[in-house]
Amino acid sequence: MTEPTLVSAKGLTISLPDRGKSRVFGPPPTITVVKGVDLEIRRGAAVGLVGESGSGKTTLGRALIRLLPVASGSLTFDGTDIAQAEEGTLRPLRPRMQMIFQDPMSSLNPRLKLGTILTRPFEAFNVPFPEATRRDTAAKLLDLVGLPTDFVDRFPHELSGGQRQRVGIARAIALEPDFIVADEIVSGLDVSTQAQILLLLRELQARMGLTLVFISHDLSVVRALCDELVVLLHGEVVEAGRCADVFAAPQADYTRALLEAVPLPEVDRGWLDTGAVRA
Ligand SMILES: Nc1ncnc2c1ncn2[C@@H]1O[C@H](COP(=O)(O)OP(=O)(O)OP(=O)(O)O)[C@@H](O)[C@H]1O
Ligand SMILES: [Mg+2]
Repeated sequence: MTEPTLVSAKGLTISLPDRGKSRVFGPPPTITVVKGVDLEIRRGAAVGLVGESGSGKTTLGRALIRLLPVASGSLTFDGTDIAQAEEGTLRPLRPRMQMIFQDPMSSLNPRLKLGTILTRPFEAFNVPFPEATRRDTAAKLLDLVGLPTDFVDRFPHELSGGQRQRVGIARAIALEPDFIVADEIVSGLDVSTQAQILLLLRELQARMGLTLVFISHDLSVVRALCDELVVLLHGEVVEAGRCADVFAAPQADYTRALLEAVPLPEVDRGWLDTGAVRA
């Protein structure tokens, strides 16, 4: 049975203020970075979003959870039109859509202990939890992502890169979201740590019924985790479909070129399941 659509975009277009240009009078010029993107993301799917640097992956990912304004086109989340929604409409939806960033060091406040970092989302969205259970709540989240519960008293800099990314994941799942956009979250990590993080994400996805957009320039990683694939080029979708189909028979020239650039032994569906990567 096909799952219902959770996120749907039609003709989604995102323009940003152009960093490179400024004007003395009038609004700053804008640059259109995502151009007329159509997407249907089914509940529970893991969608890989790939494309070369500058193709608009991060911009599209941020726009899908309305961290950016939409210039034109439609965008719905669980049936609610959020393309032009005001913050008041978005606020109750915000806990349900989360983002995990590439560099946890810069997204985790270095002055706060993990116990505080992990309970901030509850405070930010007024989700009640008794102060007495702050440590328990944080400890439970640490346990969910495979970290020792006594890490509640640690600071981010006391952790390894892989451990920090686990904290980034724990923070993203704290409010039990439906939808997570993960942007290059394993890029800075060595291969065996990458695999452990991907395994964790896959396990959490299954356990929590998460819908995932997984942004990566690494096709082998996408193939190991995702069931659908969207290929972006210059802000436009050049190919979309089931991962297995696209890998077996890419339709667009650009996708073919991308696939040819990947060393074959790494494009192994079972890569994540080999015991070798479990440390
Ligand atoms: N504020 C901005 N002003 C001008 N150009 C921008 C701005 N933000 C992004 N861009 C440009 O928009 C394009 C898409 O950027 P984006 O960061 O979404 O790409 P990406 O696919 O995530 O790239 P990467 O793989 O390097 O992370 C790039 O050409 C980038 O230089
Ligand atoms: Mg990016």
